[in-house]
Amino acid sequence: MTCESFPTEAELAAALGRRIIDAVRQRPRLVLGLPTGRTPLALYQELIRITGDERVDWSGVRTFNLDEFVHLGPGDRGSYRTFMEERFFKHLNIPPANIGFLDGRAPDLDAECERYERAVTAAGGIDLMMLGIGVNGHIGFNEPSESLVARTHRVTLDEPTRAANALWFDGDVQRVPREALTMGMGTILQAREIVLIASGEAKGEAVTALLRGGVTTRFPASFLQLHPRVQVMLDDLVAGQLP
Ligand code: F6R
Repeated sequence: MTCESFPTEAELAAALGRRIIDAVRQRPRLVLGLPTGRTPLALYQELIRITGDERVDWSGVRTFNLDEFVHLGPGDRGSYRTFMEERFFKHLNIPPANIGFLDGRAPDLDAECERYERAVTAAGGIDLMMLGIGVNGHIGFNEPSESLVARTHRVTLDEPTRAANALWFDGDVQRVPREALTMGMGTILQAREIVLIASGEAKGEAVTALLRGGVTTRFPASFLQLHPRVQVMLDDLVAGQLP
């Protein structure tokens, strides 16, 4: 695992944005794994900005988002799909058919998880997986637990995770769904390359555990230590807290 820090979140987003744009140019059929949440917002804005300035063509790119709330799907306020449409997809020319997303309103959620696994495989796997990290060490919605599920599955969200997501539901934690669908740790670890982004004071402890702690299901992000190509990108608010 390599680790790089940047003075500000904006500088981190600029460096990673440039790297992703270069990858899209070099490999027009790139397969990207994408997170939602506060962390990637600056990156998405940067990618949209560079795309406008430099007329970047995303028409061959495929994307797979990490997770979605159960009972929410395309068009629903609060769904991760709507988050991504508003903040990223509608600003680029990725064909809708190339956008892979879990549908939390699918009638059979187990079948939906299986469909997603097949879709990732059919796309040839994920080339570059971007991740955020929860303060409890979750990635995607793989919450700390006695055991982890390898493949895409349905999960019950931890209460701190629901509280952190209240932001997307007008601050009302009661409206945050109790369950979600998420890529499993195995699905994530099969990506050829992984970049984990962490910014802001709240992430200091989690990143310390990620870099220095043992591999444990009680801290799912620790499994990234087993992957040969993981880069951790931090801003100084996080890096300044590392021992
Ligand atoms: C969301 C996801 C989560 C977030 C994590 C951090 O798609 O995969 O693991 O990356 O909860 O969220 P923020 O960025 O809001 O702190």
